[in-house]
Amino acid sequence: MYIVPGLASLSLGQEIADQLKVDTILVEYKNFPDGESYIRFTENLEGKDLAIIQSTGPPQDTHTIQLLFLIKTAKELGAKSVTAVTPYFAYARQMRRARPGECVSAKGTIELIESAGADRFITVNIHATEILDWFNIPTENLSAVPLLTNYLTQEGLDGAFAFAPDDGALGLAKEADKILKGGYGWLQKERDVVTGELDICEKNFDVKDREVVVIDDIISTGATTQAAINVLKKQKASKVYVAVVHPIFVEGAFERIMSAGAEGIVGTNSIPDKVNSISIAPIICKALKKLI
Ligand code: R5P
Repeated sequence: MYIVPGLASLSLGQEIADQLKVDTILVEYKNFPDGESYIRFTENLEGKDLAIIQSTGPPQDTHTIQLLFLIKTAKELGAKSVTAVTPYFAYARQMRRARPGECVSAKGTIELIESAGADRFITVNIHATEILDWFNIPTENLSAVPLLTNYLTQEGLDGAFAFAPDDGALGLAKEADKILKGGYGWLQKERDVVTGELDICEKNFDVKDREVVVIDDIISTGATTQAAINVLKKQKASKVYVAVVHPIFVEGAFERIMSAGAEGIVGTNSIPDKVNSISIAPIICKALKKLI
């Protein structure tokens, strides 16, 4: 197997190749003056099994089109198989037609990946596992929660309460609780489909004078996390930490969360260079090893 580090995941791709002790295939990337993406494989691909590592975080459209070009070109140039490793899979949240006429972007993106020629798809904590059913190729959804939670226990947070800021993250909180062992809870959150505004239904939790870890798959604006911290602080949690798999962090998100009273934030390098980060290379290597 050869690793193709995509432009959005260059250092993660290299780390995966180093850990697997396999070669990388170098790709020339550039942008034309008008902004179009250019890619060129610099080596012969014939008969090779490739794993293309490319998250599709911001700018999502550019990173998605690069992923599609990489897959399609690799197949045209004779690669025997292409595994698309997309740790953060953009558009997964647009998985239903909430308002008439909306594009179900998650489905469209999946169809594009398949029609580009991917033979297999690997991702990390996809926003909703149901959408994997739309793939016709084999898929694998890895979890970074044990990596994040083990880090937190090393930081002395064993026994902390695992908290999901919405019911979609409940599975993550339960998984974190298996390691933290301090119990778990979740908030009921509704988002206005037009304005995006949040409506939180408050409940009481066993958090008074306790350390709490808010855990979510994605932090974008930070509004969801901020709302969770506000509830926890109101209920007198002693310290609140934040763990996130995909730290998108649009402008101002970090400050928003810290000013709500978080002690610290830990994320993974599925989206590089955003927060104190834990590498997901080991779980991806484990999945790829099965294919070697
Ligand atoms: C939504 O269901 C996700 O799990 C996250 O909670 C959400 O995407 C976070 O977005 P934001 O940071 O903008 O509130």
